[in-house]
Amino acid sequence: MSEIKKTEDIFLKLISSSKNLEDLESIRIRALGKKGEVSNLMKSIGLMEEKERKIKAPLLNALKDKIIENLEKKKNLINEDILNKRISSEWSDISRPVRPTHKGKIHPISQVTDEIVEIFSDLGFSIAEGPQIESDWYNFDALNIPPEHPARQEFDTFYVKQNNKNGEEPNVLRTHTSPVQIRHMEKTDGVPCRIIVPGKVFRSDYDQTHTPMFNQLEGLAIDKDINMSHLKWTLEEFCRTFFDIEDIVLRFRSSHFPFTEPSAEVDIRCSWEDGLLKLGQGDSWLEILGSGMVHPNVLRSCKVDPKIYQGFAFGMGIDRLAMLKYGIPDLRSFFDSDIRWLDHYGFDPLNKPSIHNGL
Ligand code: DAH
Repeated sequence: MSEIKKTEDIFLKLISSSKNLEDLESIRIRALGKKGEVSNLMKSIGLMEEKERKIKAPLLNALKDKIIENLEKKKNLINEDILNKRISSEWSDISRPVRPTHKGKIHPISQVTDEIVEIFSDLGFSIAEGPQIESDWYNFDALNIPPEHPARQEFDTFYVKQNNKNGEEPNVLRTHTSPVQIRHMEKTDGVPCRIIVPGKVFRSDYDQTHTPMFNQLEGLAIDKDINMSHLKWTLEEFCRTFFDIEDIVLRFRSSHFPFTEPSAEVDIRCSWEDGLLKLGQGDSWLEILGSGMVHPNVLRSCKVDPKIYQGFAFGMGIDRLAMLKYGIPDLRSFFDSDIRWLDHYGFDPLNKPSIHNGL
């Protein structure tokens, strides 16, 4: 038997009796590796006489191809075998509960904002927005807050850039959402309107109940026949739904805001027992918002005729309402980005507030 045939027999036998991929790989190296037996035979082609080469070269090439082909076939067989064994030994129990994963939570401020928006939308209000960096004009003057008013002191207000003389350049971080009243009313179709304005506001203050940035919600309703009773009904309706207390009692306490006349601060009846706050009952009162009838000067700054139009406005602290409703003791914790706090006080993303499901 020729050497080529003998080599072929040896390797084909080895390949067919190999049991795993490692065996197969060592056979491949023994045959076709750099110093492999077949490789050596191939190298000898170069030393042959032309006559011999013409006969042997095709045979050697055929040998090499055959070995490669057999190695490949055997490799596929072994892999198929491995897969079949895995399929028959591995299984999954599809009735088992899924692995716990960390679910994100909705921040209480986002949740409470959504709740408030949901209630006022139901009452016919739509959302308006405005910039957080405002001019003196929108933040103060147009709201009937004169230059000598204490709110305009640097003590309370973050000024971002010295303004030009008439104060039209944006130069103050808005101290309340009220400037959006002006921005809305001065539009050509600004009145009549019923709008709410949720948003961030800024004041130079920091303790357990004050943070330099906090969230407010402004309300504004302007029309030809609006009076204080509409304001009262709207706020009572809001509080009843928001706190989910049927017999809620509100007290409208005379107050002063430059942009409303008359002005009222609104308190909610409550009791404190053993440090526990209960809303809707008791002898105590808790202030929850400011409100009033829009001052004629404010309407005039927006070129709205106060003889034809009048309306009410109110402003509430979203964070404060969230603290009251969900028993959150420290305002500062809202802005700490502590994931453990959020896990505790946050809301399930699927728990979308809706009036019909009791918010
Ligand atoms: N802008 C006031 C503040 O930040 C809140 C406020 C009071 C808004 C009375 C109003 C209002 O619209 O009528 O303290």
